[in-house]
Amino acid sequence: MASSPASLCLAHALLLSRNRASDYYTPSDAWGQGLYISALLAFLSSAAASNHGGGAPEDLVRSSCVHASYPTLCLRTLSSYSGPAKTPRDLAQAAVKVSLSRAQKVSNYLKTAVTGSGKRERVAVSDCVDQIADSVDELSKTLGELKHLRGETFEFQMSNAQTWVSAALTNEDTCLDGFEGVDGKVKSDVKRKITNVAKVTSNALYMINRLNESRGRHRFNP
Ligand SMILES: *[C@@H]1O[C@H](CO)[C@@H](O)[C@H](O)[C@H]1NC(C)=O
Repeated sequence: MASSPASLCLAHALLLSRNRASDYYTPSDAWGQGLYISALLAFLSSAAASNHGGGAPEDLVRSSCVHASYPTLCLRTLSSYSGPAKTPRDLAQAAVKVSLSRAQKVSNYLKTAVTGSGKRERVAVSDCVDQIADSVDELSKTLGELKHLRGETFEFQMSNAQTWVSAALTNEDTCLDGFEGVDGKVKSDVKRKITNVAKVTSNALYMINRLNESRGRHRFNP
């Protein structure tokens, strides 16, 4: 009965009213105090128990996404990874996986989009095919690096990861730039898809920087 805040308040009120009723009513006071203390203990232990259920991985995704370039997209794409994503390293890997899989999808789409477009648009799309293929390559090298991180080569590997993800992002931006001043029905579709890939890639770069920083912190404050 005594595990809810409501019953805690009831016990408190009971105790106060007994105290006010008479200064000499000691047996009841003792009873009220006992009730109050047991209610308090029950309340505290139930609060402690409900804290244990709080998912630490989900908190990590939440707190990591807050300052990402695209926080909402970050939450949406990474909260499904909250199971295995227990560390900044898991999270960086998950973010790169999201970026890689979207880039691969767009890469396949672009190959079909080249045929159904006008001359200038065809050139732009065809350039994008190469740029996004490079992007896929760079993201998959990054994922490989993150899967084989080692203490003694950590800094070098993080520097590679940062270089490759930045290059992937540059390729995606270059693809988008190729559509400047080009009209066509494929353009808006391609732009929307590439913009989405660029956003998740930008978030992946942020997670890699975060992983690098968390490692730096651990090293200096063990
Ligand atoms: C990683 O962090 C260290 C400091 O903790 C910094 O010197 C280094 O430049 C960072 N590397 C990358 C790739 O961001």
